[in-house]
Amino acid sequence: MEILKNKIVFITGATSGIGRACAYAFAKENASLVLCGRRVSLLKSIKNDIEFKFGVDVYTFQLDVRFKNDVEKSIRQIPEKLKNIDILINNAGLGRGFAKFYEDDTQNWDEMIDTNIKGLLYVTRAVVPGMVERKSGHIINLGSLAGHEAYPNGSVYCGTKHAVDAITKSLRMDVVDKNIRVSTVDPGMVETEFSVVRFKGDEERAKNVYKGYTPLKAEDIADAVLFTASRPAHVNIAEIIIYPTAQASATILHKQL
Ligand SMILES: NC(=O)c1ccc[n+]([C@@H]2O[C@H](COP(=O)([O-])OP(=O)(O)OC[C@H]3O[C@@H](n4cnc5c(N)ncnc54)[C@H](OP(=O)(O)O)[C@@H]3O)[C@@H](O)[C@H]2O)c1
Repeated sequence: MEILKNKIVFITGATSGIGRACAYAFAKENASLVLCGRRVSLLKSIKNDIEFKFGVDVYTFQLDVRFKNDVEKSIRQIPEKLKNIDILINNAGLGRGFAKFYEDDTQNWDEMIDTNIKGLLYVTRAVVPGMVERKSGHIINLGSLAGHEAYPNGSVYCGTKHAVDAITKSLRMDVVDKNIRVSTVDPGMVETEFSVVRFKGDEERAKNVYKGYTPLKAEDIADAVLFTASRPAHVNIAEIIIYPTAQASATILHKQL
């Protein structure tokens, strides 16, 4: 796609799942990449593999999006040639725990709010002024079906993704006169490391989430992100909601076990 060639794409949470799949999808279209996450060894191997396979520029740095000063500093330190970010993909995020509100561990809440809401805000705040100055840019947030519907045992995760939905809509209004697009891609069940993280390393419990139906793959979501980013300049895809075929709402999943 000519429209993405040499575009600078910044993806948060690129070490796994949807973020990593986006990195490969955009590299395939000859975009230059700026990638971050906390797991440095994964960033390194993804960078080497993408550079080898696609010959595009890849700059990686370790970042925990929860820390505002680190976000500001590391984005300031992006090399000059990759500084003018064209597309920001706010993907870093997590679910932590799956419990009734009144039994949940409040540390899980802090982690989700700090990552999914505050981390996304810090990164966006650091990147958008450059886009405003250049009168060009595209912000694509990874929201969720949980940003449109609530489900039991997920009050705070759903709350954070509802916040992402509201932030996306409001930001779109704030930059409507700046030639900047703001979009959200909102998946249902995608098989990634998401459930292993949610269940704190319990692989068996995580596997069960995806049993009895065909879940979405990270690449399915990367496809939608790529579609969103590659429309002509006058087209802004506001939101895309994607279910696996066996899912009809946050709480209706057809499993054949
Ligand atoms: N899987 C689903 O069913 C699903 C459905 C709807 C929406 N989503 C959303 O899609 C996004 C990606 O999730 P995924 O399914 O691809 O899960 P994943 O495989 O667990 O990937 C999450 C990514 O986020 C990064 N991350 C987490 N906390 C971070 C932090 N504090 N600072 C920087 N990076 C951080 C992780 O990297 P490090 O651990 O290396 O930092 C990892 O690269 C999330 O926003 C999630 O809420 C997922």
